[in-house]
Amino acid sequence: MNYDFQAAANAESVKADCVVVGVFKGGQLSAAATQINAASQGALQQHLDMGDFNGKKGRTSLLYHLPNISAQRVLLVGLGERDKLTEEGMMQANTHAANALKNTKVKKVASFLSDEAASEHARAAVRQAVMAVAGSLYRFEKYRSKQDHQDKPSLESWLIAHTTSEDFSEELTQGNAIAQGMQLARDLGNMPGNACTPSYLAELASELAGESTAISVEVLNESNMEDLGMGAFLSVCKGSHQEGKMIILNYRGTDAAIAPIVLVGKGITFDAGGISLKPGLAMDEMKYDMSGAGSVLGTLKACALMNLPLNVIGVIAAAENMPDAVASKPGDIVTSLSGKTIEILNTDAEGRLVLCDALTYVERFKPAAVIDIATLTGACITALGHHTSGLLSNNDELANSVLTASQEALDEAWRLPMNDKYQEQLKSNFADMANIGGPAGGTITAACFLSRFTESYPWVHLDVAGTAWKSGAAKGSTGRPVPLLTQILLNRSERA
Ligand code: BES
Ligand code: MN
Ligand code: ZN
Repeated sequence: MNYDFQAAANAESVKADCVVVGVFKGGQLSAAATQINAASQGALQQHLDMGDFNGKKGRTSLLYHLPNISAQRVLLVGLGERDKLTEEGMMQANTHAANALKNTKVKKVASFLSDEAASEHARAAVRQAVMAVAGSLYRFEKYRSKQDHQDKPSLESWLIAHTTSEDFSEELTQGNAIAQGMQLARDLGNMPGNACTPSYLAELASELAGESTAISVEVLNESNMEDLGMGAFLSVCKGSHQEGKMIILNYRGTDAAIAPIVLVGKGITFDAGGISLKPGLAMDEMKYDMSGAGSVLGTLKACALMNLPLNVIGVIAAAENMPDAVASKPGDIVTSLSGKTIEILNTDAEGRLVLCDALTYVERFKPAAVIDIATLTGACITALGHHTSGLLSNNDELANSVLTASQEALDEAWRLPMNDKYQEQLKSNFADMANIGGPAGGTITAACFLSRFTESYPWVHLDVAGTAWKSGAAKGSTGRPVPLLTQILLNRSERA
C-alpha cells in the first residue's frame, strides 16, 4: 500500500476510485462533504435526507456515481457529535473507512477524514490515519498453504487529503514508518515459537542492520554471556535446546557523544514456565512472550525510516523457557551480572531473570534513559486489563514524559506505585533476593526486582502483558507499544 499526502485538495475533483468524507451526527457535513454536496447540486444531501445514514459513529455508507464528482464512489463515515470528536474517535473513523473498503474493488482512495481534526491535533491525526488504515489491512498469512485471493483487498494507494493548505507530508512519512514498525512487531509476535527462536530474532536484527546504515548489531551467544558472568540470564536458557542470545542494536542518528536512549525488550520466544510448568490452557499464547523484543525491533525500524536525530540502543534478551532434565529448579541460586545472588523460587518468573542481566549490561552505555518493555506478569492483566500498559519507574520526570507520550500516541499506560514496602516481599532466606514476591501486587514486586538492577540511570518499566496481544476470536499480536515508544523518541528528537 502506498500512502501520500495532499494539501489544498478538493473532494469533487480529486483523482481516486473512492473519496472518503466525514459526516457528523444529525447529518452535519464536514468541509469535504460540503464540497461534494455543492458540486453534486445537493445529491449528497438527498441521500442523507432518506435517513438510512445519520452520521452516527462507526456507521459508513457507500454512494455511487454522484453527479459532477470525479470519483465514482463516495464513502461517508459517521464521526458522531462534532464537539465530541476525540483523537481516538478520529482514529476509529479511519479504521471503519478501511474496513468498509477492503472488501470492494477500490484501488485508489482519497480520504478527507483527518481534515476534520482540530488544528492542534492535526499532526498526530495524519500519523494516526496511516496507522489506522495499515492496522485494518494487516494480515498474517505466512503459514497458510493457500492464500485466499478472493479475500485479498484491491487497495493500492491511500491519499490523505486535506482541504486546508498546511503541509503534513512529514507526518505522513512518520505515520508510515510507525505503521511499518508495528507490522514488524505484529509479525514477530504472531510467528510460532518453532520459527521465531532467539536465533531468528538475532538474524532479523542483522537484517535490519543490513537495511540501514544507521543501525549496527552485535549478538552475544551463551558462551559470551558466560564469560561476562550473566548467571541469571543463563539460568533461563539452560532448559532449552534453543541457544539464548542477547542482541544489541545500535541506532546512530546523531553525534556519538550524545547519551543514548536504551530500549530493553523481553524476548522469551516461548514461555512454558520451565520446571514450574504452566497449565495447558492457552499455553500457545506464550509464543507472544517476546512481544517486548518485537516492539524494540519495530521501534528501531521506525527510527531508521524516520531518520530521527537521536542515538537509540535496543537490547533484546532472547531465550526460550522450557522444562528439561538440566533446567533450573525451584530453590536454585544463581549469581547475576551485577554480582547480586538470586534464589529462583519459581522458574516461571523468568522474564525478570533475563532482563536483570540485560539491565546491568546497559550501564556501560551511560544511558540518558532506559525503558524496558516486557510481557512480565499475568497480574498486570488483572490490574489493568487489555487496554492499558503498566508503567513503573524510579524517576518521576521520565515517567511523566512517557505518560504524556502515551496520551499523544493513543497507546495508554498507567503508573503503578513502587516503594520500599513492596521491596520486602522479595526477601530470601538463602540469597540476596528471591525472584518472586508472592501473589500480592505481582506487577509491582516484579518491577521492584528489576529496580535493583537499574539504580544508576533513569528507568521506566512497561508491563505489556495485557496490551501486546489479544486473546479470543481476534487472537493475535497488536503491535503495541510501538506507537508509545516511537512517540517518546519523536518528542525527544523535537527537543534535541
Ligand atoms: N510471561 C509471563 C507473564 C504472562 C502471563 C503474560 C500471562 C501474559 C499472560 C511471565 O513469565 C510469568 O509467567 N509470570 C508469572 C510470574 C509469577 C510466577 C510470579 C505470572 O504472571 O504468573
Ligand atoms: Mn513465565
Ligand atoms: Zn514470561
